[in-house]
Amino acid sequence: MQFQWYPGHMTKAKRAMQEDLKLIDVIIELVDARVPLSSKNPDIDQLANGKSRIILMNKYDLADPAITEKWIHYYEEKGYYVTKVNSKNGNGVKAVHGVIQEACKAKIERDRRRGILNRPIRAMIVGIPNVGKSTFINSFAKKACAKTGNKPGVTKGKQWIRLNKNVELLDTPGILWPKFEDQTVGLRLAFIGSIKDDLFNIYELSVLLLDYLTQNYPNAVSDFYQIDREEESAQLLEKIAVRRGYMKTGGVYDVDKAGKCLVDDFRAGKLGKISLEEPQEN
Ligand code: G4P
Repeated sequence: MQFQWYPGHMTKAKRAMQEDLKLIDVIIELVDARVPLSSKNPDIDQLANGKSRIILMNKYDLADPAITEKWIHYYEEKGYYVTKVNSKNGNGVKAVHGVIQEACKAKIERDRRRGILNRPIRAMIVGIPNVGKSTFINSFAKKACAKTGNKPGVTKGKQWIRLNKNVELLDTPGILWPKFEDQTVGLRLAFIGSIKDDLFNIYELSVLLLDYLTQNYPNAVSDFYQIDREEESAQLLEKIAVRRGYMKTGGVYDVDKAGKCLVDDFRAGKLGKISLEEPQEN
């Protein structure tokens, strides 16, 4: 399935983020734990040069735990500080404080040697749309939500959230652009709902998702919908339609509705904890 998707205002967003990055010490990048590579854009690496880097595997509640551990290891090997979080219910969010201190150890030490004491670490959240940036910021800041307000002259117009005496967080996240040119990335982001559904055909998308699930999580669909296993995705969709009683006028089973239902159930985590990509050995 080919589909087109466009960066829209990404050039402007990139420029704004470049400016913001000048103000901060550590970049906290959110990725979606189900697609930790497809939801990450390597272009940030150029912009980030020299900053401490943290990766948060967000929505880990929806991802396959064993594969999430592999990804954590994969990114740690690449020099990132990594932890998993569920921003929605707050699991793992508190631990991010420790990760920030760890990631900024060298900078804190450097400041101390220069006699600079009590200068807070400044952090910024970045990530592609829908990865959970706002949810994370709300969750992280909940207990500590005392905005430091504008600091005229230094950081004009910027709002900082003081998390504790050591850390300040820029309250607006940086929006990263996905790898638009890669169709596989596009497809995986479509599966998780990061691309508007009107950009592709939901039936075709559901067939491709079923192909993947049959291959990698063979019982997920049959268990959830209480139907027999089936190799053919089109037949599976028909069985879902029958099971759910999705009919069109004229007595035909509505497989489009079954497809939409499958995609929605997957996104909501009802089919189980499922990851869509694994790190490649290299
Ligand atoms: P963004 O700022 O990066 O664009 O993302 P945002 O925080 O708006 O989150 C996008 C969706 O992801 C929201 O769902 C949010 O609730 C959900 N989400 C964020 N973090 C997690 C997580 O760790 N686990 C799970 N399961 N979901 C998460 P929504 O459907 O748009 O809103 P709502 O129905 O949850 O209110």
